[in-house]
Amino acid sequence: MITFNSDNLKGFVAPQELEALMPAVRAAHENLHQSKGKGCEFTGWLDLPSRIPDVFINELSSLAQEVQMNSDCLVSIGIGGSYLGIRATVEFLGAGKLPVYYAGHNISSDYLYQLLETLKDKRPTIVVISKSGTTTEPAIAFRVIKRFLESREEDLKKRIICVTDEKKGALRKIADKEGYRAFVIPDNVGGRYSVLTTVGLVPLALSGVDIRSLVDGARRAEAEYAVCDLEKNNCYRYAALRNVLYSKGKKIEVLSSFYPQVFYVAEWFKQLFGESEGKEGRGIFPASLSLSADLHSMGQWMQEAERTVFETFLQIDKPHHEVIIPQDRENIDGFNYVAGKSFDFVNKKAYEATAAAHFEGGVPNMTINLGKTDAAHLGHLYYFFEKACGISGYILGVNPFDQPGVEAYKKKMFALLGKGQ
Ligand code: PA5
Repeated sequence: MITFNSDNLKGFVAPQELEALMPAVRAAHENLHQSKGKGCEFTGWLDLPSRIPDVFINELSSLAQEVQMNSDCLVSIGIGGSYLGIRATVEFLGAGKLPVYYAGHNISSDYLYQLLETLKDKRPTIVVISKSGTTTEPAIAFRVIKRFLESREEDLKKRIICVTDEKKGALRKIADKEGYRAFVIPDNVGGRYSVLTTVGLVPLALSGVDIRSLVDGARRAEAEYAVCDLEKNNCYRYAALRNVLYSKGKKIEVLSSFYPQVFYVAEWFKQLFGESEGKEGRGIFPASLSLSADLHSMGQWMQEAERTVFETFLQIDKPHHEVIIPQDRENIDGFNYVAGKSFDFVNKKAYEATAAAHFEGGVPNMTINLGKTDAAHLGHLYYFFEKACGISGYILGVNPFDQPGVEAYKKKMFALLGKGQ
C-alpha cells in the first residue's frame, strides 16, 4: 500500500554498510517476534491488528451511532500517546461525523477557558483517556470539564466515557465509582504504540472515522512487514538505513511533507521515535517540517547548515481534490507558464526539486509514499512506523518501550506544587 524509495542515499550509504547491519537486524527481529528483547512486556502492539476482534469493531460502531445521536461534538482528553494518534488521524482524514476538541494536552488556562466557552451551547461527549489514570494534565482538565457539565445538571453517565487501565489508577476508580462507561487499555502496549488500541479506536469511532479500514490497513502492514529480509521488507530497510546514517554522524531525522494534513502524523512520529530511542546518551533527534511553508523559513538551514541531518519525505499520490491554475489574459504576474496545471502537479515538482536540492546540499533523503489519504493507508503507515521504531531501537541497543526520562520533570513539578505535603 505504501512505497519506499532510498535512491537519494547514493554516496551516503554503501550497500555493504547495509549488509553489515544484517546480523543486528536479525537479532532485532528475533527479539521482537520471540519476545526476548528489552521491554518485551510492552510489545503487544506487534500482532495487535490481527488480534482486534471484528465484534469489538461492531460494538464501537453501535456505540458511535448512539453517541452521534446524543451529541454534537466530542472532547478527547489526554496527552502524549493518549492524544497524538487521535489528533493525527482526525486531522489526516478530515471532518468526520462529530467535530473533535482536545483537552489535557496542555495546562494553558486560556486554552481551557476558550474550550469551555465553545462548549457552552453544545452537547459534548467527553472521552477521557489515560493509561496510568494519574497523569496531571488530563486529570486536572477532566476535573474542570466534569464540574462544567455538573453545573449544567447533565446526566454525566451519558456524557462521559473513560479509557484506562483495567484495574489500576485514579481514573479507573472514578469510572467504577461513578458508573461511567469504561474501556480497557491493554497492559502490554505503551502509550506511543497505542493508537490502534481502545486509546485510538474509541474516540475515533465515535467521531465517525472508519476504524474498520484503519485496522484493515494495519493488518495488511502486519503481514507485509513480518519477513526478515531487507530486500522485501521496506519497514526493516528504513529502520536499518536510519541506523547506518546515524552511525555516520546524521543525528537528526526530519520528517518532511508537502501535505498539511500530515502535520499531526509528524507530531505522532516524533513522540514515537523520540521517546523510544532518545535514551542512554543516544538516539536520532526526530524533527519535522511542513512544506512548502517551511522552505521559506527552515529551507536555508536544511540546505546549508551543519550536515548532521537526513530527511524522510512523506508523500501522497492522490489528493482528494484537484485545483487548476487558471490562464490569465494579461499575465502580469508571469505565471501563465503553469496555467492549466493542477496545484498537485506543482506540489509534486516542489517535492522533486527539494529532494534533489537537499541531496546535492549534503542531506541524504528517503521517501515514503503513502498513496492515498484514507483510513486504510493511514493504519498501514502507523504500523510501518511502529515496527520500524521497535526494530530501529533494538538495532541502536536501547529499550524502545520504556520512557524513564519523562519522570524527571514530573518529580520537580510535584515538589513545586507541594504534592503529598
Ligand atoms: O508514551 C507514553 O507512555 C506517554 O507519552 C504517555 O502516553 C503519556 O504520558 C500519557 O500517559 P497516560 O495515558 O498514562 O495518561
